[in-house]
Amino acid sequence: MTQLDPSALSDLTEGDLPPETDVDLVHVPADADTSAGSHDTSMDAIVELCKRRGLIFQSSEIYGGLRGAWDYGPLGAALKDNVKDAWKRDMLQLRGDVVQLDAAILMHPRVWEASGHVEGFTDPLTECRTCNARFREDQAVQGDAKTYECPRSDYSLCDFGPARQFNLMFQTHVGPTEESGSKVWMRPETAQAMFVDFAHVQLTSRQKVPFGIAQVGKSFRNEITPRNFIFRVREFEQMEMEFFVRPGADEQWHEYWIGQRWDWYIRLGMRRENLRIRDHAADELSHYAKHTVDVEYRFPFAWSELEGIANRTDFDLNRHAEYSGKDLSYYDGERDERYVPYVVEPAAGVDRAALAFLVDAYRVEEAPSAKGGTDRRVLLKLHHRLAPTKAAILPLSRNDKLVPTAREVADLLRRRWTVQYDDAGSIGKRYRRQDEVGTPFCVTVDFQTVEEDRAVTIRDRDEMTQERVSIDRLVEYLDDHLDLD
Ligand code: GAP
Repeated sequence: MTQLDPSALSDLTEGDLPPETDVDLVHVPADADTSAGSHDTSMDAIVELCKRRGLIFQSSEIYGGLRGAWDYGPLGAALKDNVKDAWKRDMLQLRGDVVQLDAAILMHPRVWEASGHVEGFTDPLTECRTCNARFREDQAVQGDAKTYECPRSDYSLCDFGPARQFNLMFQTHVGPTEESGSKVWMRPETAQAMFVDFAHVQLTSRQKVPFGIAQVGKSFRNEITPRNFIFRVREFEQMEMEFFVRPGADEQWHEYWIGQRWDWYIRLGMRRENLRIRDHAADELSHYAKHTVDVEYRFPFAWSELEGIANRTDFDLNRHAEYSGKDLSYYDGERDERYVPYVVEPAAGVDRAALAFLVDAYRVEEAPSAKGGTDRRVLLKLHHRLAPTKAAILPLSRNDKLVPTAREVADLLRRRWTVQYDDAGSIGKRYRRQDEVGTPFCVTVDFQTVEEDRAVTIRDRDEMTQERVSIDRLVEYLDDHLDLD
């Protein structure tokens, strides 16, 4: 086991510390009011749109659904991919100091003993004595007040029993028998593999501290009360990064990563007034953390956690060194010093981020109707990087004259971007359909295109302005107008 004294290390130098940044963020105390106030978007509207357009819907719907599990249809899967791609681009590709890991979901059971999850990854479970429904205690009972409506009895008759601790990890077995020796856990966070594999990844990628290991992947938690659509589910994806730093530099790196993560959401178009950084109170901190903040989003139901950014100290590496008997310290060759790095962890949820981007982008506006009056249009004003489809190609009609050129345009654009070919319904209806799923540009092929000028009409999602552009210049036009950087 490695236990090295950080205070015996030489002084920090510039290379140990983060670059100076100046991010203007909103910081609130641990006990800040969580009420979302009056919100212009309801969760019902988001859930309805997602179902109607096939973005996200109940898992196993034809069998009545499975609580806490959701399926992402074609456009939802594309949105989720775009969230992950945007994260990987900023956290990996544009940096030289973070490397990627794709570890197995099933890990040696000792991992979860060392991490503290077997002992402590629990929620207090309480049961209503009237109908036997189970709730997470803090969500069912607040003080003496019974805040949860009992499904099978009158609200006032809710009768909660004493809480007991319930471990949130799913268990399964490897191999054909269900002996105790074959028991494994479904990982409840992606983080642990980055600690367990630290020495191997550091050595083979030849990274020097400070550096990070990042991973995107599924995690599983047997949540007692999954709720709020994809906000709290039992199977979800995380985007986590463990950034290993020299002891003593951890607080500066923690501040740095809070700024970077805030900036990521803002650059992807999230409205500043819907974001805030909230400190964890001492009694809220996880067992491994010295200091944690949440990036919170103003969801329609409350200000709630979008991402946690924790200073995990050397807790995890020390625990895994202790439980595995392997050395997980780092050797700094330039200073001839050995130490166990401290870790700063930005841990985000893909599903939660997708939900926040959807809520933030959702707009209802008045628009001119085909009959000269006004119409209501629903719009997802997603950042171009997040939009599932970048352009829709719409032949004015299914007329044989238009189809070949419209197909040619679709094939031309498909090589560069995700596009959709849509020829069903009136052009107005098709515009509305694309607005609702956030497609930045509609490209219309009409009779003038084929008979006169080989030019198409490009309609902008947000401004509803239209421009005539020649097919020869179309790729260049979209290159200039799509904000994908
Ligand atoms: N490794 C640290 C960790 O897992 P966490 O705050 O428990 O920290 C990180 O989880 C992020 O994962 C959360 O901020 C949230 O976005 C997402 N997440 C956690 N539990 C979730 C759940 N049940 N459903 C959806 N997303 C979840």
